[in-house]
Amino acid sequence: MPAMDVDPASLEIVDHPHPVLRTPASPVNEVNDAVRAVADRMLELMVEAEGIGLAAPQVGLSWRMFVTRDPENEDGGMVWINPVLEPVDPTRETDEEGCLSLPGILVNVTRPVGIRIRGLNEHGEEVEAETDEHMARVWQHENDHLDGVLIIDRMSSMDRLRNRRAIRDLERG
Ligand code: NI
Repeated sequence: MPAMDVDPASLEIVDHPHPVLRTPASPVNEVNDAVRAVADRMLELMVEAEGIGLAAPQVGLSWRMFVTRDPENEDGGMVWINPVLEPVDPTRETDEEGCLSLPGILVNVTRPVGIRIRGLNEHGEEVEAETDEHMARVWQHENDHLDGVLIIDRMSSMDRLRNRRAIRDLERG
């Protein structure tokens, strides 16, 4: 996917039902200045929106890249490129998730608690991390975006009911 055509300043968060959110993303071939500029813009958009994670498809780019931050620890955030996730423990937990591309919608999602992640950082270096804290959930949510999966695909019948109006309003534009 050529990065040189993208003007990072023009990137904005797109909402469901934008088709890019449903498109499985392609690996980033080379971590260069253009990719870093997009990552910086994504970090900026995530902070502005008071989010804790943002995936490239959410800014209209079908790239396997996401950014995260820990609101307790303002270290500028993390960039994950071509991430691969692996559960490290069979324990699963259910918790409520929102999504910057689904304003007004909350869904209870059951996910593995402990996750190991491997990927590249913004310098193209291989990075690995493991946690059983909330960030493991954020990684999984953002990684779903890279596969074209949204939290509304993971709704129980109860969540489907309580979010029906919000989803309909989004889909009507
Ligand atoms: Ni999301």
